[in-house]
Amino acid sequence: GSPSRYDFVIVGGGTSGLVVANRLSEMTGYTVAVIEAGDSVLNNANVTDVTGYGRSFGTNIDWAYLTEEQKYAGGKKQIMRAGKAIGGTSVINGMSYTRAETEQIDIWERVGNKGWNWKSLFPYYLKSEGFQVPNSDQVDAGADYYISYHGEKGPLKVGWPRMMTNGSVLPVLDQTLSQLRVPYNRDVNGGNMVGLTSHPNTVDSNANIREDAARAYFWPFENRSNLKIISNTRANKIIWGDDSDGLAVATGVDVTGPDGDETIYASKEVILSAGSLKSSVILELSGIGNPDILKKYDIPVKVNIPTVGENLQDQTNSGLSYAGREFWIGGPTFSALPTAEQIYGGRVSGLASSIKSSLEDYAKTVSNSSNGAVQEENLLEAFQFQYDLIFKSRVPYAEIVFLPLGHSFSSEYWPLLPFSRGSVHIQSADSSRSAAINPNYFMFEQDLDVQANVAKFIRKAFETAPLSDLVAEEFSPGLERVPANASDSAWSDWAKSNYRSNFHPVGTASMLPRAKGGVVNSELKVYGTKNVRVIDASVLPFQLCGHLTSTLYAVAEMASDLIKRRYIF
Ligand code: FDA
Repeated sequence: GSPSRYDFVIVGGGTSGLVVANRLSEMTGYTVAVIEAGDSVLNNANVTDVTGYGRSFGTNIDWAYLTEEQKYAGGKKQIMRAGKAIGGTSVINGMSYTRAETEQIDIWERVGNKGWNWKSLFPYYLKSEGFQVPNSDQVDAGADYYISYHGEKGPLKVGWPRMMTNGSVLPVLDQTLSQLRVPYNRDVNGGNMVGLTSHPNTVDSNANIREDAARAYFWPFENRSNLKIISNTRANKIIWGDDSDGLAVATGVDVTGPDGDETIYASKEVILSAGSLKSSVILELSGIGNPDILKKYDIPVKVNIPTVGENLQDQTNSGLSYAGREFWIGGPTFSALPTAEQIYGGRVSGLASSIKSSLEDYAKTVSNSSNGAVQEENLLEAFQFQYDLIFKSRVPYAEIVFLPLGHSFSSEYWPLLPFSRGSVHIQSADSSRSAAINPNYFMFEQDLDVQANVAKFIRKAFETAPLSDLVAEEFSPGLERVPANASDSAWSDWAKSNYRSNFHPVGTASMLPRAKGGVVNSELKVYGTKNVRVIDASVLPFQLCGHLTSTLYAVAEMASDLIKRRYIF
C-alpha cells in the first residue's frame, strides 16, 4: 500500500506521549501518529480497579525490565516495571498524585534550562488537572486541599477514591508523627512537601476507576481525524534523511508491527516518549550516543552525545509490616515526607558535613563508572544542588506510605534523593534485544544508610502511642531478623536483601546544556538534530520528591506549547 506519512510521529503512547499527541492534534492542519508497542487496556480490570494495584505486574502489559546484577546491593538483579499499553506506565502505577518541591524545579533553570522553573511549570500542572473536590465523607476521612493549588478544568481526573480508609487513622498518625517532629501538611501539591498528608490520586472519583493518560488524553479524542494510534507496534529506530544546516534530519521511524516491518514517515518531527528505560535506547539504535558504545555494535554515529543513557536515577523501596488490631478497608494511603533532620535527629549536622566532604568522591566514582562519559565537574554541580536541597532547603528526604489494609498495618518507604547514578545502554543493534539497565542501587554508603535509618524511624513510629495502640507484633522484618536496638549495619544488611526498585527512573536523556552533559535542550530537542525531541521521564535531569506522573503531565503540556508555538503562533 501507500506509505504512512504524518507530520508528527510520536514513539510511545504512554503518560507523556498521549499528552503531546492530544495537544499537537489540536492543530487541525497537522497530522499526528502515535506508535505504541502495547494495546488498549480500557476494559482491563487489572487496570481499572482502584484497589487492584499490583495485579497487572508480570502480565503482558508489564515490560518487567530486568536490571544487571546490582553489585553494591547484594548482587541480585531487580525488576523494573513499566506499562506496555495505550496509557503506558500510568495504567499500572500506584496512582499517587504529588508534585515536587519548588526549588527542585527552579534548579532546572539554574543549571541552564531557560524558562523552566516552578513558576512557569505550575500553570501546566493546573492545565492538566481536573481536580474533583472531595465530598463530605471524603473530607471526614482526611481528604484535604487548598483549591488554589489545583486545576479543575484539565483532562486528568485527580481526587480521592469512593471508599476511603477509616477517618480515625489519620489523626492517630498525626499525633504520633508530631512527636517525631513531622508536621501535618494539608496539601503537598503547592510545592512544599514536608509533613504527613493524605494526598489525592489519579482516580475518577465518581466512576471509582483508575484515571490514566489514555482515559484523560486519548480515548475522548480518538475520533479526531488527524490523530492516529498505531498499536501493537514496536519502534526500532529513527530513519534519517540528508543533514540540513549541519543537523541530522529525521524522516521517519522504522517499526515492526503485526504485519511486519515498515517505515512510518514524519514530515515535521519525531518525538520519543517511550519512557526513561527506552527512549535513550532508541536514540542509540538510531546512531545518537556514545561512539564507544555505538561502534561495538557497528552502528554509524549520527550525533556524538556520550551521555545518552547515563544519569539514570531511581529510588529504592523497602517496607515494614505489623499485625493490625483492627480491620481496615479502602484507600488511598497516607504519606509522611520527613526531612533529613526529622529522620536523623541530632546526628544530622555531622552527617551533612561528612556528605559535603564526600561530594567530590561521588562525582569521581560516577564519572569513572561511566568511563568518563559523564564529567566530574557536571556531577559535582548536580551533587551540590542535591546536597543543598537535602540539608539547606530541607526538602523531604524520604517518603513513607502508611497502609492500613485488612488485618495488617504496613508501611513502604523510599529515600527520595539517592546519590547513586547508573545507566542504560544497548547490548546489540537488534531492537528486540534487551538493553543493559544498571541503576547502581546503593552505590554510595549514604544511600544505604538512609534506607536503614528510615526503617528505624518507622519502627519508632509504630512503637509510639497512639499508633502503637493500633498494631500488635511486627511481622516484617520482625524482631528475630532485626532485633530491637539493632545497629545501623544490621538494618543495612536487611535493606540490601529486602528492597526493590521504586519504579521512578529518570535522567537518561537529561535536559541540560550540552556542555553540562545534556541530551536535549530546553525545548527538549536532541542536540545535533533538526527535528527529534524526547518528552518523557528521560528528560528530568534530577530526581524529584514527588511521584513522577503529575510533573510528567505538566512537562508534556509545557513542551507541547513550545512545539505548537513553532507551527501556529
Ligand atoms: P510511560 O512508561 O508512561 O510510556 C512509555 C510508552 O512507550 C509505553 O506505553 C510503552 O509501551 C511505549 N514503548 C516503549 N518502547 C516502545 C517502542 N520501542 N515502540 C513503541 N512503544 C514503546 N507515578 C506516580 O505519579 N504515582 C504513583 O503512584 C506511581 N507508582 C508507580 C508504580 C509502578 C509499579 C510503576 C512502574 C511506576 C509508578 N510511578 C508512579 C511512576 C510513573 O508511573 C512513571 O514514571 C510514568 O508513568 C512514566 O511516564 P513516561 O511518559 O516517561 O513513560
